[in-house]
Amino acid sequence: MAPLHLPDSESVRVRASGKINLGLKVGPVREDGYHPLANVFQAVSIFDELQAQWAPPGEVRISIAGEQAHLVPADERNLAVRAARLLVSEFGDPAVHGVSLALRKAIPVTGGMAGGSADAAAALLACSVLWDLDTSPDELRDLGAMLGADVPFSLLGGTALGTGRGDRLAPVLSRGTYHWVLAFGDGELSTPEVFGRFDELNPGLNAEPEVPRAVMNALVSGDPAALGRALSNDLQPAALSLRPGLAQVLEVGVELGALAGLVSGSGPTCAFLAANEAAAIDLSVKLSSEGLCRAIRRVTGPVPGARIIT
Ligand code: C5P
Repeated sequence: MAPLHLPDSESVRVRASGKINLGLKVGPVREDGYHPLANVFQAVSIFDELQAQWAPPGEVRISIAGEQAHLVPADERNLAVRAARLLVSEFGDPAVHGVSLALRKAIPVTGGMAGGSADAAAALLACSVLWDLDTSPDELRDLGAMLGADVPFSLLGGTALGTGRGDRLAPVLSRGTYHWVLAFGDGELSTPEVFGRFDELNPGLNAEPEVPRAVMNALVSGDPAALGRALSNDLQPAALSLRPGLAQVLEVGVELGALAGLVSGSGPTCAFLAANEAAAIDLSVKLSSEGLCRAIRRVTGPVPGARIIT
């Protein structure tokens, strides 16, 4: 059956950024298994790309390319597929809407940079445009929160404070551009496992997480040295206890000239803040030659969230 709405275009391409956490405060686990967070995110310039094309009604399929493509399920478990299906069920019609998705991954898989959330955000945006659905940014964000706590931020981008599960967002004033060097770990780290270790390491925790004010103040000042002093991640001890080798990576990065380094989210990606672009280039070359990580990548932030590119 032909689509009822003739699409404006046959294909829509979206890119969605990865994130790092500049200040991540974690509270005691809730009954639903989630932890209350006070989480300052920054979107950084590493992007997954998703192309969406019409497919027969009711079909949602995906192909995946990129160095780590083999680590991502290309079936109904894929977050982009789940996002497209959710969009059909809430705003579309399975007798009309179908999509073929082509995903090119650059954000590390299960790396603590919200790569899966970026793909879900990209699919929500690409499919709603391809299918010409009447969805507002707020509605897409609500659907995103149903798919994962980080998906609303992947749609928004920039710099934001996330509370609740990390999905209730408020933009944060941030001056200037920050230069980061990312060190990608060799394997993956499961987010639920890291949160589980956090619970073991923090028995009896009962205080709600406090907003990381020092990070927010540093972002307003635009001073990378101040931000370097303020960076913090409550999940870092848990990630280090599951992956002790990361401590050496963090140490070496700072010895080689980073202002500061921290585990991004639940890890294992480590993010190093550099004083400026030249310092970031220097650090990335030196860190690469240490051979401690799978790969080193230079990025800047903040950058926008999921956006259409063609
Ligand atoms: O929401 P998402 O599926 O990305 O979360 C993955 C897992 O991370 C959750 O199932 C939960 O174990 C953990 N998590 C948490 N508290 C949060 C966010 C995630 O415990 N605020």
